[in-house]
Amino acid sequence: MSVEYIEQVYNSYSGVYDFFFGKVFQSGRELGPELLALSADNKLLEVGVGTGLSLPLLPRNVEITGIDLSEKMLAIAKKRAADLNLKNVKLLKMDATKLDFPDQSFDRILAAYFISTVPDPVSVVKEMKRVCKSGGYIVFLNHFQSEHPIMGAIDKLYSPLCYRIGFRTDLNLRKLMKDTGLEVETIEPVGILGHWKAVRCVNP
Ligand SMILES: C[S@@+](CC[C@H](N)C(=O)[O-])C[C@H]1O[C@@H](n2cnc3c(N)ncnc32)[C@H](O)[C@@H]1O
Repeated sequence: MSVEYIEQVYNSYSGVYDFFFGKVFQSGRELGPELLALSADNKLLEVGVGTGLSLPLLPRNVEITGIDLSEKMLAIAKKRAADLNLKNVKLLKMDATKLDFPDQSFDRILAAYFISTVPDPVSVVKEMKRVCKSGGYIVFLNHFQSEHPIMGAIDKLYSPLCYRIGFRTDLNLRKLMKDTGLEVETIEPVGILGHWKAVRCVNP
């Protein structure tokens, strides 16, 4: 799957995204601020900000930059930020594979239900590391391939099908960490039966 295909998929979902993926992912989004441990004037990057459902949950004394590939998802995020008068939020169309920011620009990075939607997660995580300050936090909310042999095999089986509709189910967290030189600092289950995980890493 290409970046262009994913852009098209999310452009086509934009009108119904909040209805289908608003509540179901909300308990994870609510963990975001705690895991990010933000301080006043921190700079936070949210990659794959989508329709901006995390934005109302984040403190207003933090400088937030949200990026997304999909113009239509971003349009909804921009309306949400304007309606809530979020003057600390900047929203930009950008491909996370090539982040247009200098090295070490951000104190914190949030990737909420995002990393399994990109064709090349290793390159994207390397970009996230590059723009994150050393010692900064990178937080992932995501489904990763189950470590249970049967569930893991099911994740693998369904992945190609799911990727057609915008996400993969077989992203292996251990391998992702190994390939990108990150380490899990904390991990906790999120949502029904802990299907998703909230993972915090410290950028080395
Ligand atoms: C499942 S949505 C998650 C949106 C939001 N974070 C949330 O919590 O609802 C994934 C988002 O990632 C965006 N995305 C996928 N690949 C991307 C890339 N390479 N660069 C930037 N955004 C991307 C999609 O356009 C989509 O808006």
